[in-house]
Amino acid sequence: MCCWCCCCIIILALVALIVALSVTLTRKHKASPIEPSQWLNLTGYPPIPTGVSTIAQPEAIVEISGCVSPATIWSCALPKEEQAANAPSQPDQPNMRLEISFVNGSVVNSSMTQTTRRRRDLDRVSNAVSAGSFIRSHLLRIRGQPPTPSPGVPSLDDQKFLGNTTDGNSPPFEGEQTPFYISFIDPTKVISARLAKRSGNPFQNITSLIPPPSVNSDGTAAAATLLPLPSSQPLRLYNRGLPTEHYGFYSYFDRSIFLKSIQPTNSSFGGVPADTNGGSSFDSATLRCTWAQTRFLVQIWTNAGKSKPLLQGPTPTSSSAPSPTATDNSSANDFTRPGSFPYPVTITLDRHGGTEKEKMIYCYNMDTDGKVIDSSGAFVLEDRSFGGVLVNPTEGPFSNVTVSPADGGPGGIDGGTGGCECQWANWLQN
Ligand SMILES: *[C@@H]1O[C@H](CO)[C@@H](O)[C@H](O)[C@H]1NC(C)=O
Ligand SMILES: *[C@@H]1O[C@H](CO)[C@@H](O)[C@H](O)[C@H]1NC(C)=O
Ligand SMILES: *[C@@H]1O[C@H](CO)[C@@H](O)[C@H](O)[C@H]1NC(C)=O
Ligand SMILES: *[C@@H]1O[C@H](CO)[C@@H](O)[C@H](O)[C@H]1NC(C)=O
Ligand SMILES: *[C@@H]1O[C@H](CO)[C@@H](O)[C@H](O)[C@H]1NC(C)=O
Ligand SMILES: *[C@@H]1O[C@H](CO)[C@@H](O)[C@H](O)[C@H]1NC(C)=O
Ligand SMILES: *[C@@H]1O[C@H](CO)[C@@H](O)[C@H](O)[C@H]1NC(C)=O
Ligand SMILES: *[C@@H]1O[C@H](CO)[C@@H](O)[C@H](O)[C@H]1NC(C)=O
Repeated sequence: MCCWCCCCIIILALVALIVALSVTLTRKHKASPIEPSQWLNLTGYPPIPTGVSTIAQPEAIVEISGCVSPATIWSCALPKEEQAANAPSQPDQPNMRLEISFVNGSVVNSSMTQTTRRRRDLDRVSNAVSAGSFIRSHLLRIRGQPPTPSPGVPSLDDQKFLGNTTDGNSPPFEGEQTPFYISFIDPTKVISARLAKRSGNPFQNITSLIPPPSVNSDGTAAAATLLPLPSSQPLRLYNRGLPTEHYGFYSYFDRSIFLKSIQPTNSSFGGVPADTNGGSSFDSATLRCTWAQTRFLVQIWTNAGKSKPLLQGPTPTSSSAPSPTATDNSSANDFTRPGSFPYPVTITLDRHGGTEKEKMIYCYNMDTDGKVIDSSGAFVLEDRSFGGVLVNPTEGPFSNVTVSPADGGPGGIDGGTGGCECQWANWLQN
């Protein structure tokens, strides 16, 4: 009898232990690895929101495609394949997710990297994880070597040149170094299994200047991209103390688009209807065109006051609308306008700067199976000065201008204004 009781008790205890363990373990497993967004206020820099945050449904404030014919070759809308994941935002309102981290030691002057503390703000944090301990763990995790940026950072000469002639920065045109790094992360939760890779079979035919096509392992054309996902880019601080003070960076990438036809037509929009609004779908595309050395520019306005109010989201349904500074991890997944990023931001795609010999538009034909036809690469002409005035203009990979200051050049190419462009903002234009 007593033996039975003992057995029962032991079994019950075991069951309880197993249940408790499994609950704890699954809870741990489910905890999101995404770091929430958190202000970091250092003595030498404007406050910066570290961690993961979002820009949701930004307004397209500039869309210029007149530099190319037909104009459908340039678009400010997401590729057709990505539009569903971006809904309910419009195709030309691409959601973005970004992460900012702090690497102590990457700026030598330690009197600029002390935390400023205000008791009142720390008390307001209701989360179990206090802001202080959160910051400490976040910093510890990333203390040490500065991360390696991908793609590489443009040269300081290039940054000075574009900072002066295109971006209208105050001296120093290339801004100041900061201890902050920014990465862009895929905003959709669907992760594509198809890995894009470069074809290992360069053709000798037309000219070796046209890069090999970007293809998947099965030979089909790689997905089209509107926006790049650069990682660990060093943020710089521009125009310190002015109303136009901003953190920012830019990098170059291969912007690509699927098209059905680039034959000139008589229609007013200069292209076939299937190619408007983000290009053709992959299934009906006959071409994949690439804008090599397209510039991706990010400007985070830190001193705009009331001049750049953030866009209004849908009317809040309850009083529990999360504040952008909340320390919960929803900041990483908040895709209601304007997203969780607390500062006004301007995101620009344009055709200024870059490497002369690599900068071009080229297209490859695709067969009906979506496979790229290797020998079909061809150039497309581009008017980089469309609607503006260039500084040190180039005319494609065949031109030969002086670039380096050591040779008496200005430091970069295609500065100034003009050319195809897209610009998005999470703030209200007036
Ligand atoms: C370090 O930063 C402080 C505060 O910005 C400044 O006063 C000081 O001159 C800087 N020191 C050096 C060596 O740059
Ligand atoms: C960064 O490092 C300096 C020097 O080690 C230290 O004094 C400072 O408190 C650190 N800043 C932060 C925010 O941890
Ligand atoms: C840091 O700066 C932000 C933005 O100005 C502010 O909202 C926050 O209260 C500051 N936090 C601390 C601890 O000073
Ligand atoms: C800035 O650009 C102008 C031309 O737009 C040029 O005359 C001037 O020398 C440049 N300044 C520097 C410091 O490069
Ligand atoms: C171009 O390449 C194709 C196939 O690779 C070949 O048949 C053709 O002869 C080449 N043309 C020239 C001009 O080399
Ligand atoms: C374009 O217009 C010209 C004259 O207006 C006409 O001759 C030509 O057939 C038209 N082409 C197309 C593709 O409609
Ligand atoms: C983060 O999100 C997960 C899943 O939504 C939730 O279980 C967890 O409590 C959240 N953590 C914080 C700190 O809010
Ligand atoms: C470009 O110009 C420089 C100097 O004018 C010359 O040395 C070089 O050979 C030229 N390169 C090409 C590809 O024409």
